[in-house]
Amino acid sequence: MPQDVPWHGRTVHTGVYKQTVTGPRMVRRLNIDGDGQGDLGGHGGEQRAVLVYQLDSYRHWEKELGRDDLAPGVFGENFTVAGLPDDEVCIGDRYRIGEALFEVTQPRVTCYRVGLRMGEPRMAALLVAHHRPGFYLRVIEEGEVEAAQDIVKESTGPEAMTVEEIDRVLYLPGHTREQVERALRIPALSPGWQGSMKTLLEQDENQEGGSSTGSAGLNAAATAAPPAWPGFRPLTVTRIHPESRSVFSLGLAAADGSPLPEALPGQFITVKVQPEGGAAPLIRSYSLSGAPGTGAYRISVKVEPHGAASNELRAHIRVGDHLEAAAPRGTFCLTRGDNPVVLLSAGVGATPVLAMLHSLARDQSSRQVWWLHGARDGTEHPFAQESRDLIAALPNARATVYYSRPTDADRLGVDYTAASRLSADVVRRIGLPTDADAYLCGPAAFMDSVTASLVDYGLDASRVHTEIFGSGAAITPGIKAAAATAPHQPAGPAGSGPQVSFARTGLNVPWNDAQESLLELAEACDVPVRWSCRTGVCHTCELALMSGAVDYSPDPVEPPGEGNILICCSKPAGEVVLDL
Ligand SMILES: Cc1cc2nc3c(=O)[nH]c(=O)nc-3n(C[C@H](O)[C@H](O)[C@H](O)COP(=O)(O)OP(=O)(O)OC[C@H]3O[C@@H](n4cnc5c(N)ncnc54)[C@H](O)[C@@H]3O)c2cc1C
Ligand code: FES
Repeated sequence: MPQDVPWHGRTVHTGVYKQTVTGPRMVRRLNIDGDGQGDLGGHGGEQRAVLVYQLDSYRHWEKELGRDDLAPGVFGENFTVAGLPDDEVCIGDRYRIGEALFEVTQPRVTCYRVGLRMGEPRMAALLVAHHRPGFYLRVIEEGEVEAAQDIVKESTGPEAMTVEEIDRVLYLPGHTREQVERALRIPALSPGWQGSMKTLLEQDENQEGGSSTGSAGLNAAATAAPPAWPGFRPLTVTRIHPESRSVFSLGLAAADGSPLPEALPGQFITVKVQPEGGAAPLIRSYSLSGAPGTGAYRISVKVEPHGAASNELRAHIRVGDHLEAAAPRGTFCLTRGDNPVVLLSAGVGATPVLAMLHSLARDQSSRQVWWLHGARDGTEHPFAQESRDLIAALPNARATVYYSRPTDADRLGVDYTAASRLSADVVRRIGLPTDADAYLCGPAAFMDSVTASLVDYGLDASRVHTEIFGSGAAITPGIKAAAATAPHQPAGPAGSGPQVSFARTGLNVPWNDAQESLLELAEACDVPVRWSCRTGVCHTCELALMSGAVDYSPDPVEPPGEGNILICCSKPAGEVVLDL
């Protein structure tokens, strides 16, 4: 059963510590009696009810790791079996053991906890690299199972794709499209792996005409095209224009007058804002708000009370000044299709969806377009006329604008549609088409509630896309929740290494050689991070590197997408700016 284990100053709630049992045990659809998982997001459930690992692999690891202490269950498995090697067992195979009938659903998912259990942090990567992941079983018929019973094969899975082969397809370079298509024809393959295979297939299709790298099946960040230029380059401010009381736009062009590379509608750039007086530059990201494909960019900045960069820009930036900018990045982009598009924003969150509206208008798209925007009142409503003109230019578009506190100067039916917040409740009642792709940007609470409401209303969760103007939600599997702490400099003496800039967090930290990886440095600063294997296999920690370079140790099992890095196994090789 799960237990709390201290680890790196935190507490992991994990069921990886298994003990051998004697006598029969009842195997049920979700679990074996007496067994449990600590983190149901990554383990357990119907598709991952029983984890299997092979004695033959025990012998392999004893030799490979020079260990003689590998007792049954040390790999976190429920059944330690003789036979059933990963390169023979196929997804969809059915086996009878005792009274119960099982079906193979997927390979083991790579995760740091097996390394924690074994005292070998590289274990998650080694299981993949040595093609010995083990696999999960679904329980088709419940019943009692006991050690030493025979394992009788009842049928082979369609496509005869082995556990080892499909693991290789997802985690290692060099899969073929035919392999992915075969995997998708196996009904027994768990929905999670089906989803990863579908994403791989989409990436393969896009790659035929494009140039993305890395494994999209592991992380959406890998689907983005490589950045248009490395590091930062100077852009010239060509125009400064007020959009509302607190938002102003900057027009940006290449310093040498050449056209800037086209960004995808929804992408953002990262800029260095140099404070007066020579302090270290502030690094901030801004979505491109203008029409894509014009050879120039526009960003629109909301002046935050006490906001360092926004106030600096408003006070000191002038036409003709240079702003150091990293290339457009981001996967919050308008996807192609014929289905309806819902663009939902609040406040300055309008910027990325406005770029999408521009793109739809430029293409004279016949798609159904819904523009839903929430503002406080007319003085805080950026792009009011611009968005109205774009909607009017589209054959099949409509706009609904909500003012939460309209003033006497605001005209109902002209400036705004309703005096209300753009809330989850409104979204449910407005009659949106359920086959739409929805793009949301605004305050975190707005996006959480509206996302939930859209899915509840009937939109497919995979079609609800969000952009966060700050740190994304953390993924820290199995770690017990602790009180949220604002990002800060790490405790102890400052490091003497190159500067590491966390762009989303707005934190610059000197690298400290006491840290094993950029991930550990981010954790020491309480910067929200996402990880799972911590050893270069799963790509959960993949993110954009705006500038600089890193050294890997160990090398990633499959390299990340171009312009991205894996922070769990890398250290900076000079100054770096991370999209974190
Ligand atoms: C992908 C992405 C896209 C983005 N797109 C846009 C965009 O299109 N437009 C846009 O305006 N922003 C955008 N942002 C946000 C932007 O990068 C900045 O985070 C934002 O402008 C705030 O920066 P700042 O330096 O002005 O504020 P910071 O100094 O970083 O302060 C952050 C917040 O803390 C508050 N604060 C700071 N100091 C104090 C204090 N002493 N007391 C009380 N409160 C304080 C500020 O009011 C502010 O709300 C985007 C961010 C990301 C990650
Ligand atoms: S956490 Fe798995 S690759 Fe970094």
